[in-house]
Amino acid sequence: MNLTDLNKIAVAMVAPGRGILAADESSGTIKKRFDAIKVESTEDNRRDYREMLFRSKEAMSQYISGVILYDETIWQNAKDGTPLVRLIEQAGAIPGIKVDEGTQALPNCPGELVTVGLDRLAERLTKYYERGARFAKWRAVIDIGARIPTQTAIRANAHALARYAGLCQAAQIVPIVEPEVLMDGDHDIDRCYEVSQRVLNRTFQELRVQRVALEGMILKPNMAISGKKCAKQASVQEVAEKTIRLLRSCVPAAVPGIAFLSGGQSDEEATAHLDAMNKIGGLPWKLTFSYGRALQAAPQKAWSGKVENVVAGQQAFAHRAKMNGLASTGKWDAGLEKKAA
Ligand code: 13P
Repeated sequence: MNLTDLNKIAVAMVAPGRGILAADESSGTIKKRFDAIKVESTEDNRRDYREMLFRSKEAMSQYISGVILYDETIWQNAKDGTPLVRLIEQAGAIPGIKVDEGTQALPNCPGELVTVGLDRLAERLTKYYERGARFAKWRAVIDIGARIPTQTAIRANAHALARYAGLCQAAQIVPIVEPEVLMDGDHDIDRCYEVSQRVLNRTFQELRVQRVALEGMILKPNMAISGKKCAKQASVQEVAEKTIRLLRSCVPAAVPGIAFLSGGQSDEEATAHLDAMNKIGGLPWKLTFSYGRALQAAPQKAWSGKVENVVAGQQAFAHRAKMNGLASTGKWDAGLEKKAA
C-alpha cells in the first residue's frame, strides 16, 4: 500500500467545490428509477442515460470529483465505442466502483441485514483497478425500529466494512466507508443521532482493529435527521448542528473527507443541509456530497428516455451539481434555485 498516493486520491475526491456522483444503482434500483419515468430498463437505455450524465461537461468538469459506477457500467462503452470510464477521466473526474454485493438477512436478528461481497473481493479489486477505478464503495444498511438496530447487526456490518476497506487499500483503491442509518420510519432526530453515534463509533473501532489507514479513506454517512414519517421534522439548522456535533464526536481528524449520502431527502433539502454545515465551518475534514437521488432525480425526469431531451437532462444535472458544489463550500443560498427556475 502506498499511503501517500491513496491520500492524494482521497483529497481529490473532496476537493473544494466538488463532490461525488453516486451513479451505482444496481439493476434492481435503476429499474425502479426508470419505471418512475416510464423508461424500459434495458442495457442500452442504462448506458444512454449514464452516458448523458458523464458527457455533461459543465457538471463533470467543474463540480464532480468522482463517479461511483455499478459493475455493468464500468465495462460498458459509450455509443461511439469509448469506454464510459474514459469519458469520466476525460472530464477530469475519478472513476470509482461499488463493490458490495448487496444485503442478506442477518441470522438471529429478525428484520436486520448484513452487507455481503467479501469473497473474491481482492481479485475483483485488481480487475477494477486495471479498468481505471481508483476508489470503491461498500454500503452497510442499519434500520431503526422499536427494537433495532441490535448491537449484533452494528458489529457485523462494521466488521465487513473494515474488512472491505483493508482489501481496498491493499489494492491501492480508496475505500468509501458507508454505514447508512436509514431515514425511513417515524423516529425523531435524537434517535437517529444516538443510533448513528453507535454505528460510527463501532465502525471506527473496527477500522482501527483492522489497521485501515484513515488518511486513505472517505466516510459516507447519513446526516442526523428526523425519520421521514416523524411528525416533528427538525429544521435545516438543527440537522446541520446535530450532524456536526455527531461527526466531531466520532470521526477522527485524520480522515480527509466526509461525503454524505442523500438517503431520500428532497434535492433542495440535501443541498441546504450540506450548505448549512459548511457555513458553520472550522471543521477538521472536508464535508461534501456523494448523492445519488438528490443529483439524479431532476435529470432523470428531464430526460425521460428521449434523445431530444439529452441537453435538458444535462442542464438539470449541471444545475444540481452546481448547487451542491456551492454547498460544499457554504456558498449556496435558496435564491439561486429560484433564479435558475
Ligand atoms: P442516495 O444519495 O440516493 O442516498 O444514494 C447515495 C448512495 O450511494 C447510497 O449508497
